[in-house]
Amino acid sequence: MTTQHIPGTAAPLPGTADPLPGTAGHTGAPAQAPDPSLIATLPGHFYTDPGIFRQEQDRIFESLWFCAVRCDDLAKPGAFRTVQIGRESVVVTRNRHGELRAFLNICRHRGARLCVEAAGEVRRSLQCPYHAWTYDLDGKLIAAPNLTSMADVDRRAYGLRPVQLREWLGYAWLCLADEPPSFEDTVIGAAVERLGDVASLDRYRTTDLALGKRITYDVKANWKLIVENFMECYHCATIHPELTDVLPEFADGFAAQYFVGHGAAFGEGVKGFTVDGSAGFGRLDGLLDEQDRRYYAITVKPTVFVNLVPDHVILHRMFPLSEDRTVVECDWLYAPEVLASGVDLSRSVELFHRVNVQDFEACERTQPAMSSRAYRQGGVLVPSEHHIGGFHRWVTERLSLTS
Ligand code: FES
Ligand code: FE
Repeated sequence: MTTQHIPGTAAPLPGTADPLPGTAGHTGAPAQAPDPSLIATLPGHFYTDPGIFRQEQDRIFESLWFCAVRCDDLAKPGAFRTVQIGRESVVVTRNRHGELRAFLNICRHRGARLCVEAAGEVRRSLQCPYHAWTYDLDGKLIAAPNLTSMADVDRRAYGLRPVQLREWLGYAWLCLADEPPSFEDTVIGAAVERLGDVASLDRYRTTDLALGKRITYDVKANWKLIVENFMECYHCATIHPELTDVLPEFADGFAAQYFVGHGAAFGEGVKGFTVDGSAGFGRLDGLLDEQDRRYYAITVKPTVFVNLVPDHVILHRMFPLSEDRTVVECDWLYAPEVLASGVDLSRSVELFHRVNVQDFEACERTQPAMSSRAYRQGGVLVPSEHHIGGFHRWVTERLSLTS
């Protein structure tokens, strides 16, 4: 795993050696449950087969709402970011009225990639670097060499292909589907399912928080291993010593954090959600007393994790790039006044950075084994992991959809 920091305070922890590359697996049905306590996982080839990954690109990442960009990263009109969603490159920008817009990053002339940088800023328009077709920030074709001599060309019809966009939690969520699924059901519904209501999440006012730190992790593992890892705490006592010091109930390995509305309580004597349990920052305005000294985790399938603690929010966005490589961008979000004060964030950031490194190392250790003959039929889930079976059913149901 490699990590990349944007300017900030926490030092990266050492990465691990590269795992062996995954290989395509073979076809095999899920194993029968060998014991009532255990249920079968997906077979190994679900994590290594490029064909399955292509289906996931089609039926999951390109079909559902995908959390792409923090809105504040596009502060001014003309700022843009490019993101990979499934097999498509998408450019997200802010138009002259300050509204976010997203387009397939493809020139309508002969298909050149329009924006080649990951991020940048233009004054008024996006110009293709090939033959200079030029589009305004709403995607309309506004100029091209000799365009005036082609009066019949409909400039809207040859505009950039728009992508559906919703803003939520201060992020731009995009959907490539012609008919997107209900955002309320599939995205906001995940928070309701976890917390019991959306008001409990709204109180953190994530939209108004500011980015204190971003770390990008390049994880050599299939995206589903990362989701499964986030969904269970059976591993917490083994690999997360700092986290279980702060949240002692995680040391039991039960998935208590997944009971509706339950937040894991800080340990006695713990002052804040920091790497050494020292004090964090003031409680975010609007939180209820019962949300204080608690940690809540939400999985928004397919690629987002939201972590709520009293003084900040940590949000992970995954970008699955291949069957054995996933880039994870993790944002630490604080009250703007905390950042304005110039206070040291390092102990606050370091706790979840260590958790991330510990988790992603575990995923990278698991990935090469997915192509082993020992894992052809898959592995097993213990009772505290049984809810991961629901995730596996969700994946296989999505893949069996007819397109
Ligand atoms: Fe973009 Fe020709 S491909 S202008
Ligand atoms: Fe973990």
